[in-house]
Amino acid sequence: AQSKGKSLLDPNRIINVAHRGASGYAPEHTMPAYEMGHKTFKADYIEIDLQMTKDGQLIAMHDETVDRTTDGTGAVKDKTLEEIKKLDAGSWFNEVNPSLARKEYAGLKVPTLEEIFSTYGKHANYYIETKSPEVYPGMEEKLLNTLKAYDLSSDRVKPGQVLIQSFSEASLQKVKAMDPNVPLIQLMEANEVKALTDDRLTAIRQYAVGVGPSFKALTRENVSAIRAHDLLLHPYTVNEKADMVRMLDYGVTGVFTNYADRFNDVVKGL
Ligand code: G3P
Ligand code: CA
Repeated sequence: AQSKGKSLLDPNRIINVAHRGASGYAPEHTMPAYEMGHKTFKADYIEIDLQMTKDGQLIAMHDETVDRTTDGTGAVKDKTLEEIKKLDAGSWFNEVNPSLARKEYAGLKVPTLEEIFSTYGKHANYYIETKSPEVYPGMEEKLLNTLKAYDLSSDRVKPGQVLIQSFSEASLQKVKAMDPNVPLIQLMEANEVKALTDDRLTAIRQYAVGVGPSFKALTRENVSAIRAHDLLLHPYTVNEKADMVRMLDYGVTGVFTNYADRFNDVVKGL
């Protein structure tokens, strides 16, 4: 209720990002994981990691290879979408998490970005990461074209409905050069957080509305420093209640979590 009426970009709104979907409960980056994150837990965003196939299709997958999250092997960049679509993206989850296994996860397909957009359209908010952009020249343009095709360009959505995130500043700058109005989030690994300076934060604020650091490197002090630069602050990946409580106490403006239900409870004070 506290978020009622507040923009997704309002620093006083606490943002719950379903990381790879509700990936604590369902196979990451599959439609059931997004459905649980979006509909069951009512997370503010579904998070989507992008990879690109040999034939230039954007798909939702975290790793550069299909090995961990499907029954196949090899690099996404060496496979066509048709080849990717033959893979089983759910059975691995049942094997790794027997207590959460469900029959219907077996045989799930890797979704394309287009399939996700055609399922949810403007009814969901998307937190989209350009992964390994140096491996996939042109992925930013493809992403913006796909957004446009689904009427999700920055001038057609509510503020913050589509956020683009990357560890690569170069990738974010490419997006900005093509559409200066898409809100951007600079991701940061722990070592980058530890090396943060005021000058770097000032520079980031020139192109991004916020940062997504590893929560492991956050302290009360660096959270204050980041927030003092008028940046949104969404640390990843905060899965334990005690860490969620601590992050909120430090002053973050949201979290990426595999357990959006748990974060809802924490925000409600349960
Ligand atoms: O995008 C935020 C967080 O997901 C970054 O780490 O490796 O889970 O994509 P990763
Ligand atoms: Ca990610």
